[in-house]
Amino acid sequence: MSHSVVHEANNCEKRPTPEEFFKRQPEPGFIKSIDEYHEMYKKSIEDPEEFWAPLAKDLISWDKPFEQVTSGDLKTGNVGWFLNGELNACYNCVDRWAFSTPDKPAIICENDDEAQSHVLTYKELLYEVCKVSQILDDWGVKKGDTVAIYMPMNSQAIIAMLAVARIGAIHSVIFAGFSSGSIKDRVNNASCKALITCDEGKRGGKTINIKKLCDDALDNCPTVEKVLVYKRTGNPEIFMKEGRDYFWDEEAKNFSGYIPPVSVNSEDPLFLLYTSGSTGTPKGVVHTTAGYLLGAAMTTKYIFDIHAQDILFTAGDVGWITGHTYALYGPLSLGVTSVVFEGTPAYPDYGRLWAIVEKHAVTHFYIAPTALRLLRKAGEDQIDKYNLSSLRTLGSVGEPISPDIWEWFNERIGKDQCHIADTYWQTESGSHFIAPIAGVIPNKPGSASLPFFGIDTCLIDPVSGKEIEGNDVEGVLAIKSTWPSMARSVWKNHTKYMDTYLNPYPGYYFTGDGAARDNDGYYWIRGRVDDVVNVSGHRLSTAEIEAVLIEFHNVSESAVVGISDDLTGQAIVAYVALKETEGVNIEDLRKTLILQVRKEIGPFAAPKSIIIVPDLPKTRSGKIMRRILRKISSYEADQLGDITTLANPQSVEGIIECFSQQFVAKK
Ligand code: WTA
Repeated sequence: MSHSVVHEANNCEKRPTPEEFFKRQPEPGFIKSIDEYHEMYKKSIEDPEEFWAPLAKDLISWDKPFEQVTSGDLKTGNVGWFLNGELNACYNCVDRWAFSTPDKPAIICENDDEAQSHVLTYKELLYEVCKVSQILDDWGVKKGDTVAIYMPMNSQAIIAMLAVARIGAIHSVIFAGFSSGSIKDRVNNASCKALITCDEGKRGGKTINIKKLCDDALDNCPTVEKVLVYKRTGNPEIFMKEGRDYFWDEEAKNFSGYIPPVSVNSEDPLFLLYTSGSTGTPKGVVHTTAGYLLGAAMTTKYIFDIHAQDILFTAGDVGWITGHTYALYGPLSLGVTSVVFEGTPAYPDYGRLWAIVEKHAVTHFYIAPTALRLLRKAGEDQIDKYNLSSLRTLGSVGEPISPDIWEWFNERIGKDQCHIADTYWQTESGSHFIAPIAGVIPNKPGSASLPFFGIDTCLIDPVSGKEIEGNDVEGVLAIKSTWPSMARSVWKNHTKYMDTYLNPYPGYYFTGDGAARDNDGYYWIRGRVDDVVNVSGHRLSTAEIEAVLIEFHNVSESAVVGISDDLTGQAIVAYVALKETEGVNIEDLRKTLILQVRKEIGPFAAPKSIIIVPDLPKTRSGKIMRRILRKISSYEADQLGDITTLANPQSVEGIIECFSQQFVAKK
């Protein structure tokens, strides 16, 4: 992919932010011009200490000031920011606003059933958080302990996260779509002392057996001493294990008033978030307190152009990094209002998101392209029913946004009057890497544009490992120096951190994505260059899915690839070779395998199609050539290139045939 010329269409005209955006701003933007951006960016790269120190002092309240801005580098991996400073993330996100603007809404929670929706002011949030902190404190959860949170996206999840942070403990939120097996692995890997969950969840009008999924996991989680259960539905049938499980509301009755936040060091972990990589087991990405918080606050403020009176609606789940940074830590660290949505865009109808925007006069709306594709397909009459004129910035996250969806977002939702921010970043970056600063950086639909302050982006030739200079080039996207909100480690496995991110290209942080840089220096993210697929904005490891398939007794080998999909961005196709084919009912087998993936990982990881093949294409050293499978699955079997180096080139014809007979497009 190196040195190829960037696609012609990428060198298109730049589109400035519409005039109406500026009219809707409550006060002038923080950055006045593109020149000012370039100047600030240059300073952030050339003199990071001078650049970040005043911002860290301004945006964060410190219990003890930091003594040094930054230490360590990408070669050694011992990165630190704001050294020897002390602070508390919960204090920064709650207390200071509870004192200055107590009656301002902190969280507007739109529940699946609209009638249950509610608002928490900063004062109320502080009160609710303190109660949970006191329960945990009473249980003996201490600074540095890990607490798992398995909750749907609602205000209680946010309260739980803040309550953990308040006592200096480390939260590990597990996306509530994960199965028991995944909960167990994550809880055990992090040796969580407690778990916070709820009885049942509500999503799209359906009830989800959240506690039951936890119970199945907890049988094999020896470190978990106590479980706090929020009564979301109040189902009296819920199983509660004596001495282990306690109801949130009943415990909270024992406590009232205030518990002081525990000061932690800048570099103490704030949270773990498990994410998929090229290898099978998920990694517990470690984010530390000060640098992460500053990255969250800075990007929310500057990229979205968020002012005190703005209302940010991040329609992402708290189980992923987007929910952490842009539903919780970004907006609350700035004292603005965050809208949290428990349900789905399709319930009770496809107008739900727009109804929320109108109801709360949302100014900033942030969503994944996969939801936009769904909403576009659902038709436009639902959009036109609602007044969306409060909107000013529209954000896109999690996967590439194609120019046609970008245009649709801009025209149909933004009415050509908003700034569109295609934000490129990752769990590991903590906050935005590359995104057009609202009102400042002109857009090119489909490009995330220019890097944020402190993000020293470059492209590397994967063959030579050397940096590619100049514009109109493609390569592997890497970052040349540390930034405050970068992940510091992989939990209990720093070697994996080094091997995944810092050792592939020594001296650089490797993003795992390929990208192009056009004539204007704009970045166009091309997608993962490793074995990670992105299905509906969910990041999945093909190796993890393969490991589940292979567990089935009759499967001898499996290879999973991602193919492009109109609705979900990418979809999973699994190739499976069997030990025994005689007497096997293929349809039943397919169902069993899909069920197994749903059960072991979660429904969102289920393959769209399973192709049973006699053999998989392999190199002479026994490595499965997924590249060939990817081509076949994309109807590009005529472009396989040289297959003579395979140990079994004759397998290819058979696989092509199996694919054409068995591939089923969405049912
Ligand atoms: C992809 C989600 C193109 C990318 C915040 C990255 C994107 C992975 C974009 C991280 C974007 C995220 N354009 N691709 N705007 N945003 N990605 O950790 O491949 O769940 O490496 O973080 O999503 O996924 P993660």
